[in-house]
Amino acid sequence: MPSKGEAPSRRLFIACLLAAPLLWYFAKAFGAALEPTPACADGLSTPEQTPGPFFKPRSPERKSLREAGVQGTPIVVEGIVRSTRCQPVAGVLLDFWQADASGAYDNQGYRLRGHQFTDSAGKYRLETIVPGLYPGRTRHFHVRVQAPRRSVLTTQLYFPGEPGNTRDGIFNPKLVLELSEAGGKTGRFDFVVDAG
Ligand SMILES: [Fe+2]
Repeated sequence: MPSKGEAPSRRLFIACLLAAPLLWYFAKAFGAALEPTPACADGLSTPEQTPGPFFKPRSPERKSLREAGVQGTPIVVEGIVRSTRCQPVAGVLLDFWQADASGAYDNQGYRLRGHQFTDSAGKYRLETIVPGLYPGRTRHFHVRVQAPRRSVLTTQLYFPGEPGNTRDGIFNPKLVLELSEAGGKTGRFDFVVDAG
């Protein structure tokens, strides 16, 4: 004998069955966009990316790449380097290189190339310009991150809402800067490295 409560339960069950494909569709459609930037609590390091063909060793140590002759939209890139155990890591080498506003890399000298080390709180701060576009790639920074006595993590940082992001096969949504325009353009990104 079916009880009085069974009919509504059955209706609810059928409704859930019908709604499931719809929920799956929306989850799939928006999943990539909503995928969060990895946090140290995940226990995973920042994703690695190809260095590309334009890395040059022995860049100068400096926190600003805005030297004379460098033109473009100023931006500060800053954040913290943490270990996979969520501890800030001091003395981490960050070596940045990027295209100029017209999309060109300086392969003769060290224009728009520089390295620095995180402070005692694991913080870094780079004054630079927004990199220009060049064929085949969306807008990006290159960076090599190396905690003391650890191997190098090479990756790239991207801009949110950039039209080229969806066409760039290298682009990774986990590597998008958190952009702010308050008090000047700032892009924030916290790295997570395997620093023990
Ligand atoms: Fe590049």
